[in-house]
This record gives sequence, C-alpha cells and structure tokens, in this order.
Amino acid sequence: MRDITTENITRAVQESWANADDPRLKEVLQRLAHHLHAFIRDVRPSHDEWLAAVDFLWRCGQISDDKRNEFALLSDVMGATSLVDLMNDTPEATVGSVLGPFYTDDSPTVPFGADLVGDNEGDAILLTGVVRDTAGRPIPGAVVDMWQTNSKGVYATQDPTQADDNLRCKQLCDAEGRYAFTTVEPGPYTIPTDGPVGKLVTHMRRSPWRPAHYHFIVKAEGHQPIVTEIFFPHDPYLGSDAVFGVRAPLVRDISPVANSAGPPVATQRRPLHRIDFDFTLMPVAS
Ligand code: BEZ
Ligand code: FE
Repeated sequence: MRDITTENITRAVQESWANADDPRLKEVLQRLAHHLHAFIRDVRPSHDEWLAAVDFLWRCGQISDDKRNEFALLSDVMGATSLVDLMNDTPEATVGSVLGPFYTDDSPTVPFGADLVGDNEGDAILLTGVVRDTAGRPIPGAVVDMWQTNSKGVYATQDPTQADDNLRCKQLCDAEGRYAFTTVEPGPYTIPTDGPVGKLVTHMRRSPWRPAHYHFIVKAEGHQPIVTEIFFPHDPYLGSDAVFGVRAPLVRDISPVANSAGPPVATQRRPLHRIDFDFTLMPVAS
C-alpha cells in the first residue's frame, strides 16, 4: 500500500512516469505534474470550481471538429501560442506571429505583380518586398504564401459568398528575391465568440477583436520557414489583440504610392498605396 498525502502526491505522479522510453515526454510530464500541482496548491480550487474547469475543457472538445479546434483557440487567448512562437524565434530572422485557424495550403500560385483585388472592396495596395537570408543575400525562388480577410474581416474559407481562393496566394520570388502583388487592406475581426473560449473572453470583459493583418508563411529551400503577420499602425485593436500576436517590427504603414521610397514595381493593377515588407530567413545548419 502507498499512503498518498498532499506532501507526497506530486512525487508519486512524477514517479508514475519514470519508466517511459521517451525521455523528452517523460521530462515534460514530470514537469507538468510539478507545475499543475503547484497551481492547485496556490489557487486551492473547491470541488465545484474544479468540476467547472473540467466541464469547460469538455465543452471545448464538444465544439471542436475537423475544421475547428477550440483547444488551439484556448492556447491563443492564454498567450501560450504566442509565448511558444516568441521562444522559438531566431533573433536574426523576421519575428514570427500566430498561424491561426484559417490557413490552407492550396492557395493559387500567382505571377510577380499579380492582382488579388478583383471585385473586392477597398483601394489597391501594392504589397512588396525582398526575401533575404540572415547574411542579407536575396533568396530567388523563396515562396511567399499570403492569406487575409476582405475589408469586412471575413476570410474566403469562412464565407460562401467569396470565391474559394479570394485574397490568398503563393508567389515565387524573382531573381532579386522580390515578391509583389496588389491587394486590399484587410478588416479587423473577432475570434469565434460562440464557443466556450469566446464566451469566457467576453464574460471576463476582454476584447475578442484581432487587429487587421496579413498572414504569411515564407519558405525557401535550406532555410527555416517563418509564419508571421503584418499589422497597421492606425488599427484601434493594436493594443488589445485577443491572441497577443502584435510585435513592433510587424507594424507597417500603408504609404501613398507617390511618397513611396521603394523602387517602382510593375503590377497588373495601378495601386494607390504601398506597403514594403522584407523577410529574413535563417539558413538551416548543414
Ligand atoms: C487568425 O489570425 O486568423 C486567428 C488567430 C487566432 C485565433 C483566431 C484567428
Ligand atoms: Fe487572421
């Protein structure tokens, strides 16, 4: 018999994982026991409070399906996703930001200078820049994969009234590592508020809004990919992003094309505005 007490229960749980073959998973579970038990000792939940917490997680599971992961959203609103992102950033590379749930890998590949504006509401903005390595060398053939909402803050993947591939594209950088396309300014939107996580956020008088943003995944052979976003300085939600994705280097002005410092770029549609954003990728150690 083992007499389990408040004094020895943490060690007992840690020892229960001791025979695992996977040393990293063993370490993680033992550290989790340490921190989870420390949290319980600190907060001292009543039975009802603990049952409410378990019920909350059960409801997260109930609303999740192959398109919706409420646990990922819980990680986002707790800042856990962003903390993991920040801790895994490479200081010399472009800072990362949250992937979110609206990425799909099948965006159309468009040519340099392509127009994504189509019939979307909003002025045309030239979004352009250079993908370089950490030594400052351009990376021809790097792939810039971008997805965004329309001006109303809705992604094509959420909205049957938009064409399936509206406002998302992949582009291969040219010989100088440049990408360029015209698009519109995205709108801010709220995280889903109909599930347990969104309801908790609004019940606790937190803002469910995300500031408007472009999402990017930038990849190149022999380099670590980056997942990041671009935000706008005039956005009212910049200081209260529900998922803590805003980083100062990712906030970029939309300038009138007439005042632009960058080189002219030939595009399918004449833009009124321009955003310049360069990406830096870290080579993979060989
Ligand atoms: C997004 O930016 O697409 C997003 C990120 C986290 C939660 C919900 C949406
Ligand atoms: Fe988003």
